[in-house]
Amino acid sequence: MATRLIVLSCIFLAFFQSSNAAYNVVSFGARADGKTDSTLPFLRAWGSACNSVRSATIYVPRGTFLLKPIVFSGPCKSKIVFQIAGTLVAPSDYWSIGNSGNWILFNKVSWVSVKGGIIDAKGASYWSCRRAGRSCPTGSSSISFMWSSNIVVNGLKSINSQLIHIAIYHCNDVVLRNLKITAPSTSLNTDGIHVQSSTGITISSSMIKTGDDCISIGQGSKNLWIDHIACGPGHGISIGSLGDNVYEDGVQNVTITSSVFTRTQNGVRIKSWARPSNGYARNIVFRNIIMRDVYNPIIIDQKYCPDNKGCPNQNSGVKISQVTYKNIRGTSASQVAMNFICSSSNPCNGIKLQNIRLTYNKRAATSSCTNAAGLSNGVVIPRSCLQK
Ligand SMILES: *[C@@H]1O[C@H](CO)[C@@H](O)[C@H](O)[C@H]1NC(C)=O
Repeated sequence: MATRLIVLSCIFLAFFQSSNAAYNVVSFGARADGKTDSTLPFLRAWGSACNSVRSATIYVPRGTFLLKPIVFSGPCKSKIVFQIAGTLVAPSDYWSIGNSGNWILFNKVSWVSVKGGIIDAKGASYWSCRRAGRSCPTGSSSISFMWSSNIVVNGLKSINSQLIHIAIYHCNDVVLRNLKITAPSTSLNTDGIHVQSSTGITISSSMIKTGDDCISIGQGSKNLWIDHIACGPGHGISIGSLGDNVYEDGVQNVTITSSVFTRTQNGVRIKSWARPSNGYARNIVFRNIIMRDVYNPIIIDQKYCPDNKGCPNQNSGVKISQVTYKNIRGTSASQVAMNFICSSSNPCNGIKLQNIRLTYNKRAATSSCTNAAGLSNGVVIPRSCLQK
């Protein structure tokens, strides 16, 4: 009898634990009017979900919710799904989020997924402040994940960030998919997605139209897989700027595939500051890519030094090696479609070119190489200028 009771209560507990705890932000006082500050109600909903021993869903219904800078901190007791049907907006005064660095921050969390939703940081007045050269706050990323793991962001739309739309720092195992990111081509420093000091990041099936890099990959990024990205307008997908610091972690094992660049400033770029560093970029693959009127479709730029400031000897210490370009075709908006400007103290090596066809004004474009070595294979137009 006693054992039967124990078995029954175990079954009951198991059933109970597998069902989900649900927390609607409205029942914590959030208002869908776009005017009432819903920051505290969101934090209370997070607190309850984070303390739940059962996996929890935080539900944001339709409507517009005003949020000031907010930090969702872990560690939490169980998995959390943030299900967003509505829109999260920042206050229209850009100072209110402008000095916090991040508008919406997830810190030290794991097994969190964000599903759906629109986030609108209302960055336009912040960009005009900067353009006018007035004194402006330092600016915020719209949604950031730091020191986190096993994160999924699926179906989120981000509009008009002040700076970076989505930032990933010190994270492991992150999947970003079905994202829509939009800001005008003239907006300053509005990178779509920035990854740094993180491992195991997948970015897939996303549309990115913005004023800076569609995706930027900073120091210490490893094991990245990026596929089915439609980029443009924007500055393309960039590894770098690397070599910002004398001592920094390198970038390795990055694949970018099945993507289209439309009228972007760059297609696939690796760039490093022209100054000493122990940084590196290696085992990088760019393949199955279409360029449509891209200004610099293929570029390595190790002479990056805006305004010629902070680059005393103009040589980059960053070592670039084992970079493959395969199945890349389309049109260049400038004559030089393939441009390898590598460091004289650390030449690029192990560059591989295979099946490339890039035209400029309906003719073959040209290529340019400085301190760059590698091999070419199959049809390569413009012809390779790599040293063997
Ligand atoms: C490279 O990254 C991919 C996915 O991002 C991963 O599956 C693979 O194991 C990594 N390779 C190495 C050698 O670490």
